[in-house]
Amino acid sequence: MVDRSTGLAGRRIVVGISGGIAAYKSPELVRRLREHGAEVRVVMTESATAFISPLTLQAVSGHRVHRQLLDEQAEAAMGHIELARWADQVVIAPASAGLIARLAAGLADDLLTTLVLATEARIWLAPAMNRVMWANPAVADNCRRLASREVTLLGPASGSQACGEEGPGRMIEPDRIVKALLDVVRPGPLTGRRFLVTAGPTFEDLDPVRFIGNRSSGRMGFAVAGALADAGASVCLVAGPVQLDTPPGVERVDVRSAGEMLEAVLARIDPCHGFVAVAAVADYRPVEPARHKIKKSGQPLTLSLEPCPDILATVAALPEPPFVVGFAAETHDLESYARGKLERKRLDLIAANRVGDGSGFECEHNALEVYSRDCHWSLQPQSKTTLAHALVEIIAQQMQQREESTP
Ligand code: CTP
Repeated sequence: MVDRSTGLAGRRIVVGISGGIAAYKSPELVRRLREHGAEVRVVMTESATAFISPLTLQAVSGHRVHRQLLDEQAEAAMGHIELARWADQVVIAPASAGLIARLAAGLADDLLTTLVLATEARIWLAPAMNRVMWANPAVADNCRRLASREVTLLGPASGSQACGEEGPGRMIEPDRIVKALLDVVRPGPLTGRRFLVTAGPTFEDLDPVRFIGNRSSGRMGFAVAGALADAGASVCLVAGPVQLDTPPGVERVDVRSAGEMLEAVLARIDPCHGFVAVAAVADYRPVEPARHKIKKSGQPLTLSLEPCPDILATVAALPEPPFVVGFAAETHDLESYARGKLERKRLDLIAANRVGDGSGFECEHNALEVYSRDCHWSLQPQSKTTLAHALVEIIAQQMQQREESTP
């Protein structure tokens, strides 16, 4: 059973550390965030490393510390844009006067400032500096500019300072930072749950230049992944070839064919509580793609195709399947086909939409009929984003019901 009592469970937090004596408190902050269930990655500025060792932060966060924009190894593990998307909160503690000035100016001259510009996550700053610096109108100005951009300032506190002076400028204690986050970041209905989502079409290669594809844009699957993340879930999105931005807080794996999609799903399904198959997976693929470009001969061409693996049915047939949600696109007899798939593939829910009359594929709006074995929900035509949130509410409610009824 998932422990949902911890308010930051499943939250993805980047802790940024800039140069200042208060950096000695940052490992404690990381530890506390993790105790509350958050996943934490640490980004340090160059001057921060003069105050505290990256190794300490690596040990307390359980992950390699990100330090440089152009660090090949770190970029290969998780690039800075990926990290910016991964985060749902960025907490910079301590935030030095210099860093605050660079953020206020919108500079992107190191990894931390670039990440702040590139993220859609909420940003929190815990300033720390000498009291006279804190009182300087230039600093006050910069803080006002940041606050007007919805950056939240925490502190500073008053008290004795490292420089021997007394007054405001101390970084607030890690406990107070965590409390501020807990007050705002409410756990969602799916906090602490892991989901795997498939989206987009698959392309099945005929030869090195041609493939069998379909018109799925991937938008519905991406919207579902985003809505699951908004509900607090950790989400991995296995995406076929699409031109879409990854929703904030979602981890993405790109694949091309049904075979690759199945492999990516099976490699990640194990710790998942839910699987939502939105991808329009090809039903058939060439038995053997040609190694060289197929040349025209003027004669009819017969292609030999074999069925693709059914990813959804494979997951639902696992010995301990997660909560499984399928999609169905139908031109007619929507309910009977959808219910048939629900039974045949042993799904918990199926979301069916009508296609072929200008709705469904390649458009922003959609409507869904959602069926479980004994319930039916009708979701009226609306944007795919709103629709995805409505579907995720049903998923969360049904998962909870299933959990409560399982001894
Ligand atoms: N699906 C899958 N793997 C496949 C085919 C489909 O995971 N190889 C999933 C889709 O992601 C979707 C659901 O199964 O969730 C669609 O079911 P399916 O029976 O394949 O629908 P259609 O392709 O529309 O089938 P039919 O032609 O029988 O209507």
